Amino acid sequence: MANAVELKGLTKRIGSKTVVDNLTFDIPEGEVFGFLGPNGAGKTTTIRMMVGLTSITSGSVSIRGHDVVREHEQAIRQVGAIVENPEMYKYLTGYQNLKQYARMLPGVNNRRIEEMVEFVGLSDSIHQRVKTYSLGMRQRLGLAQALLHNPSVLILDEPTNGLDPAGIRELRDHLRTLARTQGVSVIVSSHLLSEMELMCDRVAIIQHGKLVNVERIGDAAGSERAQAPLKVFVEVDGPSQAYVALNGFAGVERVSVVDRGVEVETRREHVPSIHRRLVEADIAVYELRVMNRSLEDRFLEMTGGVPSDARTSVE
Ligand SMILES: Nc1ncnc2c1ncn2[C@@H]1O[C@H](COP(=O)(O)OP(=O)(O)O)[C@@H](O)[C@H]1O
Ligand SMILES: [Mg+2]
Repeated sequence: MANAVELKGLTKRIGSKTVVDNLTFDIPEGEVFGFLGPNGAGKTTTIRMMVGLTSITSGSVSIRGHDVVREHEQAIRQVGAIVENPEMYKYLTGYQNLKQYARMLPGVNNRRIEEMVEFVGLSDSIHQRVKTYSLGMRQRLGLAQALLHNPSVLILDEPTNGLDPAGIRELRDHLRTLARTQGVSVIVSSHLLSEMELMCDRVAIIQHGKLVNVERIGDAAGSERAQAPLKVFVEVDGPSQAYVALNGFAGVERVSVVDRGVEVETRREHVPSIHRRLVEADIAVYELRVMNRSLEDRFLEMTGGVPSDARTSVE
């Protein structure tokens, strides 16, 4: 797949502070990609540079092969974005707002407006004034507006702020549809891992302006995860019996006796059969804990939260 967006060494200094520090990564066509990081990490500043709302100190952003600085118009033509709150006229209807906005966009006709209204599910209320809209409805109107000119890259800064779980699910469905059926590259930012896990194919974890890691999450990570090597601690009443039961058992790379139990090196897919083996050998299992830290634990640790160390799968 071709890259829709490329960041190379993207850096922003404000005064003496490096707010975005040398970010380099690519986002292919048709991917939902997340910027994940705590408040102040530099997500909004990165997005503002990507859409030309603030200057770039060094490095570059290219969108569909066009540099956002040197070929600003060609690059920006490809982009639909909601950064900060979308500007809406509250005393106009949703439809009037879209009409107003469409006047600035060549080639956007009434039919296109209606298609987008239908796509975001606002057909019933599009002729009501925006001041009567809920936050979720305003978000949907914002999304329709950002999509009017048929962008191939959609950028939404903290789009789930203020949405309830149903609203988040709906937004996710819209974003996935755009990515999967039209090859739109969608970039969303959030400080909440739980929301990013629901929406994204991959996330870039950003902290203090630096890229910590890019990780694949969601469905695509599922099969990778099954194969991932794990170390599992099993608390049992008879560690040496457990050792005998598991030594050489299918899927067990290594087993060793530790305080109050055994440690097993295996792969995630073998964990259920290891558990079953112990139960069948009449060994009482008090706890079975995967010791490799999940993305969530690592994220919490990176961002100063408390890692949930005891992730007990079976008790
Ligand atoms: N115009 C500005 N002047 C000074 N500092 C700024 C400005 N904009 C952002 N910052 C600082 O840059 C850092 C990153 O901010 P921001 O990009 O908004 O983070 P995020 O969106 O991840 O919460 C913060 O420390 C913020 O205070
Ligand atoms: Mg922000």
